[in-house]
Amino acid sequence: MLSKEPRLKGDDSKAWVAQQKLKIAIDGPAGAGKSTVAQLVAREVGYLYIDTGAMYRAATLLVLRAKIPLDHQKAMTELIQRSVIELQPTDASSPEKIRVLLNNEDVSAQIRSREVTAAVSAVSSVMLVRELLVDKQRKMAGLGAVILDGRDIGTVVMPDADLKIFLTASPEVRAQRRYDELTAIGENVDYDTILHEIVERDRKDTNRAIAPLRQAQDAVMILSDNMTISQVVDTIIKLCDKR
Ligand code: CDP
Repeated sequence: MLSKEPRLKGDDSKAWVAQQKLKIAIDGPAGAGKSTVAQLVAREVGYLYIDTGAMYRAATLLVLRAKIPLDHQKAMTELIQRSVIELQPTDASSPEKIRVLLNNEDVSAQIRSREVTAAVSAVSSVMLVRELLVDKQRKMAGLGAVILDGRDIGTVVMPDADLKIFLTASPEVRAQRRYDELTAIGENVDYDTILHEIVERDRKDTNRAIAPLRQAQDAVMILSDNMTISQVVDTIIKLCDKR
């Protein structure tokens, strides 16, 4: 939704982007920093941040709690269809980047557990599950002024996005970041195990038949190995400004 009005002199990037009500897509592999960056960009320009991975994680938590085997696709889909998954923005004082409600219960912390992380690729590869969640994501993004992050945003959910970013970093850097995050919250983890889990999840997300992780043709790749979070945020806001 680009405005055709001439740009005012002295108008800064953020105010300009805020006015444009753009649709921004950020895709990339596990642990590339998508959610941190997307949430910060959303705050800077007053957009709605939609963490689509959190929706797949909430669906996975539901399935695990109900003890539905991961190959029972019909039972899985029916359960997800009967349930309500909601995302709510948080403010800067909150430790969570987004609040996730599952049938009105706050599950923001539970969806980040390693059990959920280990099962999420299986649940997210089920076509009917994806159809349900993609439909919800498109409705939430409908009015623009949104930033969505995930695996298939630029390719499937919003092929019409105004700006598509493919945010990535080497597996070692991504594993180190995840290791630091987990040890900071007191989890006793081993770097090599985390690296293995990350590589394995990428392999599953990239090789699945439906909506695999892939860079959209018109996406801008940002390799964040040697960049700080604020450098990535600034780069994205500048790219929006050029739209
Ligand atoms: O751990 P990380 O924050 O990188 O992942 P996430 O964004 O929370 O996504 C968790 C999992 O959900 C991914 O590994 C994918 O299997 C799945 N996912 C997906 O299939 N499509 C999306 N648009 C977002 C996530």
